[in-house]
Amino acid sequence: MLSSVKIYIDQDKCIGCGRCVSECLGYNLSVQDKKAQVLSDNCLKCGHCFAVCPQNAVRMEGTGDDVLARSEATPTLDATSLKNHLKLRRSIRQYQQTPVEKEKLEAIIEAGRLTPTGSNSQNVRYIVVQNGIDELEDAVIDQYKELQRQAEASGMSGASLGAIDISRFKLDRGFLFYNAPALILVVSENSTNACLAAMSMELMAEALGLGTLYVGLFTRPANQNPALRESLGIAPKEDIVICLTVGYPAVQFQRSAPKLPAKVDWR
Ligand SMILES: Cc1cc2nc3c(=O)[nH]c(=O)nc-3n(C[C@H](O)[C@H](O)[C@H](O)COP(=O)(O)O)c2cc1C
Repeated sequence: MLSSVKIYIDQDKCIGCGRCVSECLGYNLSVQDKKAQVLSDNCLKCGHCFAVCPQNAVRMEGTGDDVLARSEATPTLDATSLKNHLKLRRSIRQYQQTPVEKEKLEAIIEAGRLTPTGSNSQNVRYIVVQNGIDELEDAVIDQYKELQRQAEASGMSGASLGAIDISRFKLDRGFLFYNAPALILVVSENSTNACLAAMSMELMAEALGLGTLYVGLFTRPANQNPALRESLGIAPKEDIVICLTVGYPAVQFQRSAPKLPAKVDWR
């Protein structure tokens, strides 16, 4: 995908300061005759050369991105607000039935898109589900029911999926998605990239007054269900790495929930 992105240096604007060279982790730039030169087409297209240039002399063709100048941005993220936000964020399992505005869903996906990916691969994509949530839930609930049936038939005391004991699950509608009005499935061949994107998305959702829940109980059986994969257009090398419910919370928490102290090894 990124092979179609091309980097050019405007030789008239370039002052040969070499800041782009210092930023290029692929050693793909050099200053020759006081002008920066792109040595090959083979780089991550990470855009650091573009972003650091004091002369705005670097052009990246094929990205189609909107660019934000440092001078236009108002830094609002302070450490105390971030920490308080992280403390008060909760998984949301009670939702209002108000639909989520398309602009807000787009803003959440934008937060995912802007999140770093290994080797700048940008290989994360998103499926927004607002229609057909019940069908998805039913398909996976049927898988759990089948597992329970098999476990009972074989005389095992509890059905399990991997390490998860499902024998006590109440497999009714709402069990997975809690009647949330929207889902965003984060799909990728790289689970780390997808997880990082999801965390940004969750933060954006909260900033927009929305609540989310990671539904790990959906992703594993869903990825093992060929019909479900096909209906969602999941390629063989991809997985649904994260399933996020999204909606306006119908619950307000009064305080943060205690967490264990961090396990840190200072060396
Ligand atoms: C990867 C992941 C998968 C999860 N899967 C589910 C799930 O399938 N169903 C559910 O109700 N909660 C799920 N959760 C929510 C966790 O239970 C929740 O984050 C944890 O209990 C801590 O609560 P908090 O998010 O409010 O701090 C998941 C969370 C994560 C991070």
